Amino acid sequence: MNDAGAFVREAVESLRGAVPGRAIVAASGGIDSTIAALLTEQALGERAHAVFVDTGLLRAGEVDRVGAFFRASRLRYDVVDASARFFAALEGVRDPEEKRRRIGTAFIRVFEEEATRHRADRLVQGTIAPDWIESGGAQRDTIKTHHNVGGVPKDSRLTIVEPLRDLYKDEVRAVAHFLGVPEPDRQPFPGPGLAVRVNGLVTPERVRRARIANAVVEEEVERAVAAKEIARPWQYFAVLLDTLTVGVTGDNRIHGEAVSVRVVESTDAMTATAMAIPRRVLSRIAEGITRRLTGEVVRVLYDITDKPPSTIEWE
Ligand code: XMP
Repeated sequence: MNDAGAFVREAVESLRGAVPGRAIVAASGGIDSTIAALLTEQALGERAHAVFVDTGLLRAGEVDRVGAFFRASRLRYDVVDASARFFAALEGVRDPEEKRRRIGTAFIRVFEEEATRHRADRLVQGTIAPDWIESGGAQRDTIKTHHNVGGVPKDSRLTIVEPLRDLYKDEVRAVAHFLGVPEPDRQPFPGPGLAVRVNGLVTPERVRRARIANAVVEEEVERAVAAKEIARPWQYFAVLLDTLTVGVTGDNRIHGEAVSVRVVESTDAMTATAMAIPRRVLSRIAEGITRRLTGEVVRVLYDITDKPPSTIEWE
């Protein structure tokens, strides 16, 4: 891509060709799908419907944050609350890949229902080149990894359209700049959401704990960045472990959960370094988590493993 303006004109033109009727756009709140949604809206006007799915697995304040970003980008969108469906799909599932498969299927079902509601037969998504090249080009027919859909089911009547599939991230940013879209102010967040930050069984109660623990890590890390105690990390989050551990409240020994805190530096997520953060910042995180989850989380660990040999997420 040489010229963002020319790319936009061509993309709008080819979207008009690829979508004779109506289209649903899978909008995650990330820059890629937001640009895809804006191009689709430009191409189709009222025939485009951007859909943001509230999976019940989002971080604290995420629906509001994404809404503010869409409004700043002047994108029309619907929020679909599908949390009951996602929790039902995850019931009894412990295996991380099975979680991803179930979440992927739930996403597709939500988009299919929205498509039916809007009489659409195309699903536009913000897949970019690294999304399919890094997975060996095998993703031709699958929805963006962000939504972790293992593939559109054979019986689906949705045809996938990917207006950004030849672009790299810096080119998407150039298009965003051209369209006047602000940079979304957020760290990378996995498509399956807090489901992969709740090791073991995913229940509304355990997701609530993970959400609170993640919020504490975000608040304390951002405060430490603002106070110049640490540089801005690549990712910073909390994982609810699949274990029960002993704690004390007053005179009582209780069983509670354990949380692992992960703060990593990276430039592309392919490799990462566990950040050496000052002990006082770690103490504030541990104190905040155990206070806001009194009696529920009684132990906080700091993950000091680099990638490799570890991965960034636990699951
Ligand atoms: P790992 O854990 O493999 O993660 O070192 C590398 C980067 O990818 C993110 N990640 C995901 N993103 N769906 C996503 O959209 C996923 O299933 C998923 N798993 C990991 C992770 O947060 C990190 O930025």
